[in-house]
Amino acid sequence: MQDSQDKTRPATSERLAVVLRRATAETHQAVERLPLMTRLTSPTVTRNDYLDYLHALADVYAALEDSLLDALDEEIRNDLGVRRKLPAILEDLAEQGQPHEPRSSAQPPPSGAAAALGGLYVLEGATLGGRVIAKHLRRCLGPTLGSATFLDFHGEHSSAAWKRFASILDSLPAHGRMDPAEVVSGARESFAAVHRMLEGTGARGAPDRADPDHVGPRCPGRRHLAETAPPIPEE
Ligand code: HEM
Repeated sequence: MQDSQDKTRPATSERLAVVLRRATAETHQAVERLPLMTRLTSPTVTRNDYLDYLHALADVYAALEDSLLDALDEEIRNDLGVRRKLPAILEDLAEQGQPHEPRSSAQPPPSGAAAALGGLYVLEGATLGGRVIAKHLRRCLGPTLGSATFLDFHGEHSSAAWKRFASILDSLPAHGRMDPAEVVSGARESFAAVHRMLEGTGARGAPDRADPDHVGPRCPGRRHLAETAPPIPEE
């Protein structure tokens, strides 16, 4: 329902990137609270928690990424500067000696270019939080973490890459090329699909999963990442 109280409805002059953040904030928090994610961000995270996360994210990106990108004009894709993330996830798994065996996933991506753009916002945004998670894992797991190519996808250029993505996002509706309401509902639909996929993810049977109570040694001086990570900023 879209009434004057609906905080997810894009006002004509409001930046789309800001509207998207607000419209998906609740689902983002729900994703952060999933067991897979709380293990990853805990001070007792283990290498196997990281591997479970990579396998789960590989399924998410395999289910959504290609269709979302293919739904956009080449020109918009190039302007956004988006590069596929699935190869990076598979590289990280291969480096850990863990080839990925895809699980079938019946998650139809949102249809239409505007909705696909919303979905890409979700997949691209994951690299922002990824940087924070990578730092936490580097501290807790040390060299065992390996390259973490996916989590630290844009490296030092994270902020610049996100600014570019967000500014193109903001400009498209202004040029009449996308309906902002469709972009927002595509983002919500995709984020809900991500949540469903991650919710249904169990451990993949790595050795220390035989004991469900297994936790790694406590990472020195660390609280739970959720207590230290910066909140998603409000404009
Ligand atoms: C434990 C898991 C996660 C944590 C701790 C986390 C944390 C964060 C943090 C701290 C930011 C803000 C970064 C900044 O502004 O510099 C962020 C942004 C974001 N994350 Fe996550 N994230 C997690 C999982 C995910 C997943 C699985 C997705 C989607 C596949 C996702 C999508 C996004 C999006 C779309 C944004 C951008 C929000 C915006 O500013 O518009 N996150 N995340």
